[in-house]
Amino acid sequence: MNIVLGVGGGIAAYKAAELARALVQAGARVQVVMTRAATEFVQPLTFAALTGQKVITDLFPAGGGEAALASAVEHIAVAQQNELLVVAPATADLMAKFAHGAADDFLSTLHLAFTGPILLAPAMNSNMWTHPATRANLAILRERGCHVVEPEEGFLACGVTGPGRLADPEHIAGEATRLLTGRKDLDGETILITAGPTEEPIDPVRFISNRSSGKMGYALATAARDRGARVIVVSGPVQIPAPAGVTVIPVRTASEMRDAVLRHLEDATIVVKAAAVADFHLARVAQQKIKKTAARVSLELDPTPDILSEIGRKKGDRLLIGFAAETQDLKQEAKRKLESKNCDMIVANMVGQQGTGFESDDNEVTLVLRTGEVVDLPRGSKRDIASQIFDRALQLRLALYAAR
Ligand code: PMT
Repeated sequence: MNIVLGVGGGIAAYKAAELARALVQAGARVQVVMTRAATEFVQPLTFAALTGQKVITDLFPAGGGEAALASAVEHIAVAQQNELLVVAPATADLMAKFAHGAADDFLSTLHLAFTGPILLAPAMNSNMWTHPATRANLAILRERGCHVVEPEEGFLACGVTGPGRLADPEHIAGEATRLLTGRKDLDGETILITAGPTEEPIDPVRFISNRSSGKMGYALATAARDRGARVIVVSGPVQIPAPAGVTVIPVRTASEMRDAVLRHLEDATIVVKAAAVADFHLARVAQQKIKKTAARVSLELDPTPDILSEIGRKKGDRLLIGFAAETQDLKQEAKRKLESKNCDMIVANMVGQQGTGFESDDNEVTLVLRTGEVVDLPRGSKRDIASQIFDRALQLRLALYAAR
């Protein structure tokens, strides 16, 4: 991977050093190009030491002669030698120059000569970020196909809290490597994923829930996004950050999850139900906190709506992937759920043990497919399992079409 990293002049330039390191660690050869303003914030030597490459700062280096002659075409050579241009921080000024084709320094000239994918990671003061001029420039660049890692909300160097903080360098590096190496076989798909637990209230302060962390559902969302899908996640309450670039619809109860899923079903081409939906909710939720005075309290529970079964009835041509969380008879239960809920695939996992299932970073699953195939996937990270689920889903769809 040959990546050119353009560093703009903003306080976040120091984080570009972390980004350079992350790109090098991901196996890239990184050529850094700094604007003159960027060198006011960070010394070129920092980037040279991190990348092992000479850092370019000027279109016409001082001294003239042969050095000037070489530099006259250097921006073309750098454009041709690299597969991806990453700009971080992409300042308001740089985006304005890129949007309008200015070419008055090495980075803006390189931008015009560069024909590969461009990834912008903007960072600036919140007012500058929301200014109509910046929004318009960003819209032009997006329309031209530039990829954007949106800035995060947070406390900014200028003392205000709001949008404008450079995204996490590791995340930008992930996006960069994804652009160069990622498969795009889910491009054109809209994937609706449910994740996390539901909470069923008992009274204003208590609820019934389960141990789902949302890790499996969010891993599916990340894998689908990375392969080019538009992703909608209907998520119960979780403590983990949502993957960037996916639409997250937060819900609390099974009933709210049902409504959100049905609202988005129309758009979806694939539905994946990884959420651990409560099977029961209180017949009557107490309006006031239940007092501790009684020796025993009985809760009367009614079944929640079975969302997977309902989608099974309404799915049309969509591929429907359900999960089965079991503590015994894993494959038998998965086959039963596949049939009774009219799914195309069930991802079955044992729960109640350490290391896989609920809360853990890893999982070990068996895929039970409508074609009758049963595939045991070895233990792996949830991200890896998620990717294999989509591999199988695409193969399954072809097999189901062929069988028609
Ligand atoms: O979130 P993590 O901590 O990463 O944990 C991952 C997980 C263990 C939650 C996940 O891998 C998993 O197994 N999810 C499904 C949990 C579950 O509710 O399984 P179930 O066998 O009870 O339900 C079968 C299927 O019906 C599931 O797809 C479930 O989303 C769905 N369902 C269940 C009840 C209900 N009322 N409506 C539903 O749609």
